[in-house]
Amino acid sequence: MRDLLAALAELRERLKEIPQADERRLPDVKTEILGRKAGALTRILGQVPQLDPASRKEVGGAANALKREFEAAFDARERALKHAAAAVSGVDLTLPGRAAWRGGLHLITQVVDEICDIFRELGFTRAVGPEAETEWYNFGALNFPKDHPAIDAQDSFYLDGGYLLRTHTSPVQVRTMEQYRPPIRVVSPGQCYRRDPFDPSHSPVFEQIEGLVVDEGVSFVDLKATLSAWARRFFGAETRTRFSPSYFPFTEPSADMQATCAVCRGAGCPTCKHTGWIEILGSGMVHPAVLDNCKIDSERYTGFAFGMGPARIAMARHGIPDIRLFFESDVQFLAQFADVAGGAR
Ligand code: DAH
Repeated sequence: MRDLLAALAELRERLKEIPQADERRLPDVKTEILGRKAGALTRILGQVPQLDPASRKEVGGAANALKREFEAAFDARERALKHAAAAVSGVDLTLPGRAAWRGGLHLITQVVDEICDIFRELGFTRAVGPEAETEWYNFGALNFPKDHPAIDAQDSFYLDGGYLLRTHTSPVQVRTMEQYRPPIRVVSPGQCYRRDPFDPSHSPVFEQIEGLVVDEGVSFVDLKATLSAWARRFFGAETRTRFSPSYFPFTEPSADMQATCAVCRGAGCPTCKHTGWIEILGSGMVHPAVLDNCKIDSERYTGFAFGMGPARIAMARHGIPDIRLFFESDVQFLAQFADVAGGAR
């Protein structure tokens, strides 16, 4: 017991080392004294239970008191070193903490997922295709005649080696029909590129979702019913749709679909330019020439296709006036949508 008290007295001398220890030395001193296995004080404390009751009380009390002194000394020195380091790096430790940025899915990603989820319930799978395409897949196979003005409307960025950045997701139709035989039901979201100005309603980079159905006996009734069912699911059960004639080289007949404005419910507002209707997508019955290009028997099979822009759909749903807001590096605008449709993940 005498030995132990002497050892404690000797150990106490080492308290003096602590205020002088630098950030390298400090952890070593701490381990030497308080280390869980071989610390000098830990070892003394380990012997206390073997002592007779009276000694146990005396040595135990002294050892625990010394332990508290060491802990306080280490704490104080650690804090002092941290302060000094912070002062050097200019960090103000008195500032309140900032909430951590959780991140989240971009509004357009959320809308794409939501649109594809509804189509999945209608029996569609998701397909993908490359963003750098050949002219054949982007235009030729889709029945755009060479030098047709419809190609001018989709002016692209051309790459070396006969490639271009795809101007729409429609080439995925061709790739899907080459790879799979009917029945086919796919939706294909992805990035597209056009030489368009960056203005309130255009962006040179934008998202599209393509849809394609090919089977025996598919008719325009299926097109209208499928797309209207989707619109009611997406915009709300009271949503009405209407179709008007349009032109796309790869569909015949072609139709644009409008839906009642989700912001004013058809009453008229700035989002729908006071018409009560919003342009949602282009669609049509797959042109037999496109089926033939993909070696699908156009006498036996028919199909419908559609293409929509999730950015415009998000704008229509939320009354967002300018597409450029989606690309702002200041995420304050996007943060308000962090919890729409599934929220930050
Ligand atoms: N590819 C067309 C565009 O970018 C959109 C589109 C219209 C796709 C009609 C289709 C469709 O599949 O049937 O303007």
